[in-house]
Amino acid sequence: MEKTLILIKPDAVEKKLIGTIIKMYEENGLTIEDMYMCVPTEEILAKHYAEHIERDFYKGLVEFMMSGKIVAVLASGENAVSLVRKINGATNPKKADPCTIRYLYGSGVQMNAVHGSAVIEDAIREIEIWFGN
Ligand code: CMP
Repeated sequence: MEKTLILIKPDAVEKKLIGTIIKMYEENGLTIEDMYMCVPTEEILAKHYAEHIERDFYKGLVEFMMSGKIVAVLASGENAVSLVRKINGATNPKKADPCTIRYLYGSGVQMNAVHGSAVIEDAIREIEIWFGN
């Protein structure tokens, strides 16, 4: 069974959407294996977003992710990585398909409610960062 990493971002937590979002994953066949809330540190975000460190949006992204609590979720299921990406929708909520989390609850490219691992290799790396071995 494939595993993937989901982060429910501070904008969605602030809007009291944790239950709504978790329900969408569960209703689409995913199993929640583990989860916790935290205000992430700069260190963990530097590891998680390592591929974006040189991007001009990186500093703002990290500040946003540290602006409140997030929920780190370890989910599993058949094709969990691509399924979560589909449920999440495109990075830009304006370009996301209707009924996706980002279309429904995102308010911009940065405040886009959720993160999901892009590919299986990222999922393995990100699960190790947020949940250990
Ligand atoms: P996420 O799935 O968490 O992975 C990288 C994040 O960078 C992405 O969602 C967006 O929130 C953010 N991001 C990507 N492109 C931009 C951008 N142009 N401006 C601000 N944030 C961005």
